[in-house]
Amino acid sequence: MKIFIDTANLAEIREAHSWGVIDGVTTNPSLIAKEGRDFIATIHEIAELVNGPVSAEVVAQDAPTMIKEGLLLAKVHKNIVVKIPLTYEGIKACSALSGEGVRTNVTLCFQASQALLAAKAGATYISPFIGRLDDLGVDGVTLIRSIVTIFRNDTDLKTNVLAASIRDPLHVVQVAEAGAHVATIPFKVMKQMFLHPMTDRGNEQFLKDWATVADRDIIGQTTRFLEARK
Ligand code: E4P
Repeated sequence: MKIFIDTANLAEIREAHSWGVIDGVTTNPSLIAKEGRDFIATIHEIAELVNGPVSAEVVAQDAPTMIKEGLLLAKVHKNIVVKIPLTYEGIKACSALSGEGVRTNVTLCFQASQALLAAKAGATYISPFIGRLDDLGVDGVTLIRSIVTIFRNDTDLKTNVLAASIRDPLHVVQVAEAGAHVATIPFKVMKQMFLHPMTDRGNEQFLKDWATVADRDIIGQTTRFLEARK
């Protein structure tokens, strides 16, 4: 499963990128607004930084303007994927943009029938929002499982399932088990994925025991060892 980071914050993207685990980025109008910076400049900077798909969302609500926005966004950088809401007009725009060879991410998916329509319209990604479903008392991971099954049953459907609205590390594991192709993860959750008290405790103990070793200079010892073997 690929890992995208779900943010428009450059500092967060830079930090996560330095870990070497980021395959792409997703943004949405709310995330862009939160940063208070120019949309296109931000998207371009992200796309230069991360060598992978970067979702940038159209805001028009009618297909012709969505297509116009999408074609322009796709020209900003080769990494841009045009994000489109799952509406009648959005699906129409998705079909047209896919026909033009523009990669698309159909967003705001809350039921499997919507995912099927997006796939038929040639979407590159479909984004089911699992956290927002959980908030309604509906199991979001079940939706991922259902969409993955539908896509596996019809090999003509080439759309990638991009699990969105992820709220915790358990969501990440569950969507990976369910067969999602991608999970887009907020920075906060990404940091939580590192953590386990047993890791910290184990590391502390290793360091305590290591302190009793006479020569603790690994670099010096190794360098001498390797030089002696030349
Ligand atoms: C990403 O593509 C979505 O816009 C995002 O995951 C939504 O997450 P939220 O429900 O936490 O806003």
